[in-house]
This record gives sequence, C-alpha cells and structure tokens, in this order.
Amino acid sequence: MKIDPERFLSDLHHLRTFGAAGVGKGVVRPAFSQADVAARRWLAGRMGEAGLRVELDAMGNLFGLAEGPSLLMGSHSDSQPEGGWLDGALGVIAALEVARAAKEAGGPAISVVSFQDEEGRFGGLTGSSVWSGHTPLAKADGAAAYDGVSLREARAAVADMVTGEVDPSQFTGFIELHIEQGLTLDAAGERIGVVTEIVGTREIPVTFVGQQNHAGTTQMHLRRDAFQGLSAFNGLLNDRLRNVVTPTTVWTIGHLEVHPNASSIVPGRVSFSMQWRDGDADRLRRMEQIVRETAAEVAAEWGLEVSFGPMWELEPVAMDVRLRGALEEAAEEVAPGRWRKMPSGALHDATNVARLMPVAMLFVPSIGGISHDFAEDTEEADLVAGLEVLAGAALRLN
Ligand code: GLV
Ligand code: MN
Ligand code: MN
Repeated sequence: MKIDPERFLSDLHHLRTFGAAGVGKGVVRPAFSQADVAARRWLAGRMGEAGLRVELDAMGNLFGLAEGPSLLMGSHSDSQPEGGWLDGALGVIAALEVARAAKEAGGPAISVVSFQDEEGRFGGLTGSSVWSGHTPLAKADGAAAYDGVSLREARAAVADMVTGEVDPSQFTGFIELHIEQGLTLDAAGERIGVVTEIVGTREIPVTFVGQQNHAGTTQMHLRRDAFQGLSAFNGLLNDRLRNVVTPTTVWTIGHLEVHPNASSIVPGRVSFSMQWRDGDADRLRRMEQIVRETAAEVAAEWGLEVSFGPMWELEPVAMDVRLRGALEEAAEEVAPGRWRKMPSGALHDATNVARLMPVAMLFVPSIGGISHDFAEDTEEADLVAGLEVLAGAALRLN
C-alpha cells in the first residue's frame, strides 16, 4: 500500500475551503450549516472516486464503505462555531487517503466515516451517539441549536443524500486520528501520541432566575440579580472544586445568556452551561454534587431560583489493547523515540463507537496547544507522520 502525502494534504486543504473564515486557517462549519452540507457532498464524491460505496444515514453520518468486513477509520468534518481546519477534518481525510491507497493496492479493507455534529450544535457527539444506539434519533431530533433550529429541521438539508442505516457489524474496529488540541506533544518536541483513554464528561444547563428591574433605581440590597448569583457561584465553585480535583481535571462555563442583556437593566435571568471532565467516574460524581449544592446555596443567599436541565454524561473510555498495540508499533517505526502514550482530555466520536467495537486513537501535535480557535494548526510534516502511523496500523491489523 502506497499512501500519497501530497494527495492527502491537497484534500485536507480543499476541505478547509468549505467555511473558511477568520485569520489563518480558520473554519466555520457547524453541523448542517451550508458549508457543512457542501463539504459532505464533496467528501461523498471523493469517497466514490476512491472506489468506496457511499452511504449517508438519516443522522447525516457519511460513510465510504469497503467491501466485506473492514476496519473503520475517520472522525468528523463539522466544526465549532469558531474552529480550526484540522479538528476532525484531519482524521476524515487521513482515513480517506488510507482507504484509497488500500483500494489501489488491493487491500486491506478500510472504510471511512465522517460523523455528524461531533462539535455539538445539537448536543454533543450527536452523530456517533445516534449511530451507536446511545441516543435514539427521535430524541436527538428534539434538540435545538442556540439559534432555535431543531435537529429535525436541520437534517432536511441532506435528505436527498440519505441511503439508510449503516450496519456496524461489518466493521472489525475503529481508529481515529486527531490533533492533540493540547500542549503536551508540542512542548515535548514529540510527533505522535497514542491514546490510552478518553476522559469522561458531564454537562448541565443551569438557570438562575431573580427579578429583572431598573438599574438606576433599584438599591443594591433590594436586588435579586441573576448575574451576581452566577458570579458568586463561579467563585465559590472554583474554591470548592480545588479540594477534589487533580491537575488534569477541567471545568468550564462556556455558554452564557444574560437576560435581557441590557446595560441599564438588572439581569432577571442567566442561563449557562456547566461542564466538567475527568478520567475518574467517582470524581465526576463528586463534582456533580458540589456543582448542585453550590448553585442551590448561592440561589438561597441571593434570593434566586435555580433550575438544572438534563445532564449530558459520557463515561471515561479505555482504548483497545490490540488496536493500540498496532498504533504503538507504527509510531515507533515512523517517529522512533518521539512518541508517547497519553490520555485524551478532549472528547471524540471514539467514545461512542466504543459501545459497538474495539477503538483506538492517535494524536499529532497542535502548535502552541491551540484548538477550538481559528489559530489552530499543525506542522505539515506532523500531519503526514500521523497519516503514516494510521496506514502502518492498518497494515499491522490486516
Ligand atoms: C470536542 O471537541 C470536545 O469538546 O472535546
Ligand atoms: Mn472539537
Ligand atoms: Mn474533534
């Protein structure tokens, strides 16, 4: 099998033209946006040209299938609302190149997937969650993006491409190449990370409701200011979490809506996302308790009501030893002494696919550790090293 780094890089740069935005190599290609749909149509064409059978399921997951039992490779091609050109795209295009080279060589059998909505416009890892049977499509359909569009409405954009459900039993395993999205490899001058496990995640929508009022006439001691509640919650939570976390535990308030969001109105309502991640399920539970208790305490103190939406949960997942072994051998061949085993703090579709089959992952460095930002980038030599390790693993698992 002879992979072609130039063909791979050319396809990767072409994928970036769908939704290219911002400075550098940024993209804006959220699930089912015009750019995402156009990218999916182009990818389907490239898969067909590679001799793969193109299928799209009702959720919008795009597959390029080899004949008979095959090893599945891929990632996602949707992006964050402000994303980089490699997050997800790298794994899809590298899989396409390995599958194409394998087809040309007469084997091994490699199939390709681009999952839909990994970045969570309608939840989180939505496409792989539905495909793995974890979330029924009818339930996912009810989810609405922040702009009010429901998944059911959004899916209509690819209705003409849908071929039907794709049977997971035809795949012998799944390997996902991804950028690290952190600083570990770049800081160490290493070229490949072979993932040991993917951390678990919890996320709850939280709302504080107080009393909307006039910002000039409402005395401070009479206010029930929902934003002040959030501010107090954040400070107290940071203090309390410090007692239970490790240096790799993370927590984020990333989405925030202040109502009515006007400079002369005491905010009557704030809604925000409370997310936390760790490799230990017990710690995730303990953190949940602290989040809920702290919010309730702050609400009582500030005269607010607090409510919690449904919690999104993903358990920590270990990578398959056999698939991982193939990646480790290939990494040592491609980058001798310049690779490591490491956990993933970012979420990946592999977490959901692990419900169906053995999975493994590998990383290439992110320059400066930047991702989920237009500035995200990786040296082209490292992108190619990742492709080579992926191909090396495919041959070893044949
Ligand atoms: C996926 O991009 C994540 O949030 O880790
Ligand atoms: Mn991402
Ligand atoms: Mn990703």
